[in-house]
Amino acid sequence: MSKQVWLITGAGRGMGVDFVRAALAAGHSVVASGRDRDRVSRVLGTSSDVLAVTLDVTSAADAEAAVRASVDRFGRIDVLVNNAASFYAGYFEELTPAQIDRQLAASLIGPMNVTRAVLPVMRRQRSGHIISISSSAGIAAGFEFVSAYAASKFGLEGWMESLQAEIAPFGIATTIVNPGFFRTELLTEQSTNFAEPSIADYDERRGPLVEYWKAQNGQQSGDPAKLARTLITIASEKQPPRRFIAGADVIATAEQKIAELKTQIEAHRQLSNSLAFN
Ligand SMILES: NC(=O)c1ccc[n+]([C@@H]2O[C@H](COP(=O)([O-])OP(=O)(O)OC[C@H]3O[C@@H](n4cnc5c(N)ncnc54)[C@H](OP(=O)(O)O)[C@@H]3O)[C@@H](O)[C@H]2O)c1
Repeated sequence: MSKQVWLITGAGRGMGVDFVRAALAAGHSVVASGRDRDRVSRVLGTSSDVLAVTLDVTSAADAEAAVRASVDRFGRIDVLVNNAASFYAGYFEELTPAQIDRQLAASLIGPMNVTRAVLPVMRRQRSGHIISISSSAGIAAGFEFVSAYAASKFGLEGWMESLQAEIAPFGIATTIVNPGFFRTELLTEQSTNFAEPSIADYDERRGPLVEYWKAQNGQQSGDPAKLARTLITIASEKQPPRRFIAGADVIATAEQKIAELKTQIEAHRQLSNSLAFN
């Protein structure tokens, strides 16, 4: 496998750390980015193959500076991993507009900011690979408490799917990754923000849901180190997959979604087909 230059967001904690370690173990160079560059350096240590940079993905200026630093140090960027995200959990009506804004800023606009800064480099190279970490909630989200997060991940997927068609002619590949539950820090207080209870109609259902999400922390079955090694494999393929489903639970979710879509089509096929001008 030839040596690649990776730029990874959210590399100071969570699965981003595993991604950096796997890329280094595979012999690649890595620009490891995070809101707190010192933390990124502390966690990853120093090596001639790692450059730690400050990158809050909600800042377009940070993204541009991080890309400049990457090119100054390593001359190119082969793989971008849009990994950083946060989780605003709660009933849609109880999430404030500011919380929705922050969810979308970190998990949808953030990847756009970083990708916008990286694309001129990849277009010049006429090669590159953009990997965006979505979620099972980016495929199907028919359960309570994740409307904001799912909106950001569905948005991420729609954007990535259309972007793929725009940049494939330049030799740039895209991959959407859909992880199930992986044991990271996502469900800790540092990453999960719950809506403040404000509507009595939800009182009965809210408590058990908050307990459910808190109880998942530390119990997730997915091993982020294994997912990280999988990304290395995908990024070495001549034609990387446009989607990679990460976990048996998400395969089940995707299959259920396909079945639901088929049922929905069949339920009204005739009506759907009757909408053109006569
Ligand atoms: N773990 C799972 O079960 C799971 C399942 C499905 C999808 N995912 C997705 O996997 C990705 C990684 O999540 P994780 O599980 O590793 O969560 P995590 O442990 O909470 O890590 C999140 C990372 O994102 C960073 N981050 C948050 N907001 C940021 C911002 N504005 N700018 C830059 N960095 C920011 C955090 O850095 P700070 O230290 O600065 O906060 C942290 O490094 C996310 O896209 C998540 O949605 C995870």
